[in-house]
Amino acid sequence: MAGAALDLGVLISGSGTNLGAILAAIEAGRLNARVRVVVSNKADAGGLTRAQNAGVPTKVVSHKDYGSREAFDAELVKVLHDAGAQLIVLAGFMRVVTPVFLEAFRDRVVNIHPALLPAFPGVDAQAQALAYGCKVTGCTVHFVDTGVDTGPIILQEAVPVLEGDDRARLAERLLVTEHALLVRAIDLIAKGRVTVKPSSNGGRRRVSIGADPA
Ligand code: GRF
Repeated sequence: MAGAALDLGVLISGSGTNLGAILAAIEAGRLNARVRVVVSNKADAGGLTRAQNAGVPTKVVSHKDYGSREAFDAELVKVLHDAGAQLIVLAGFMRVVTPVFLEAFRDRVVNIHPALLPAFPGVDAQAQALAYGCKVTGCTVHFVDTGVDTGPIILQEAVPVLEGDDRARLAERLLVTEHALLVRAIDLIAKGRVTVKPSSNGGRRRVSIGADPA
């Protein structure tokens, strides 16, 4: 594989199946990246075991130990910088990051969200889509900005809502697509194919995906 591997810092709060997909893609030689550290704000996050099994360093930084979101974020930044992370992946990280975090990694923070943004931002997007009666939902990988799930969109993919779906079944189907989409987005970034265009006329900043040089 050509070029230097992209150094990742992955932030999690839960089971870490998206982290698992990243680790599997790296292991299979499908993603030219290295996970330098996995950080969780919860000591019992299942993703920590996945990381440890893959020989990846882990760190628990509990938000409860900090007096403000900014102080918590400053510690996250320190841990990620110390690990040499270049791109930060929020993979089921259930905290909103502040400008302290975003200024340290400008346009270098991506998030996976289980809905087709701008529909259903925030928590429990799967339940929101079901409650609305959507026939199609999906997932989005986007750069993180100061809003909640509002940053420039990198990739999206639709997933059908099937008759009889409950939250668990829909979430499970979404996760399969999330895993592939997140790996694809990181791969595009690693290959230098993702550019955030400046906004024009006060509009939103948008992502452009460059052609595959291969
Ligand atoms: C995923 O649905 C992700 O989109 C959302 O939280 C869930 C995390 O799942 N933000 P996992 O921890 O990667 O299994």
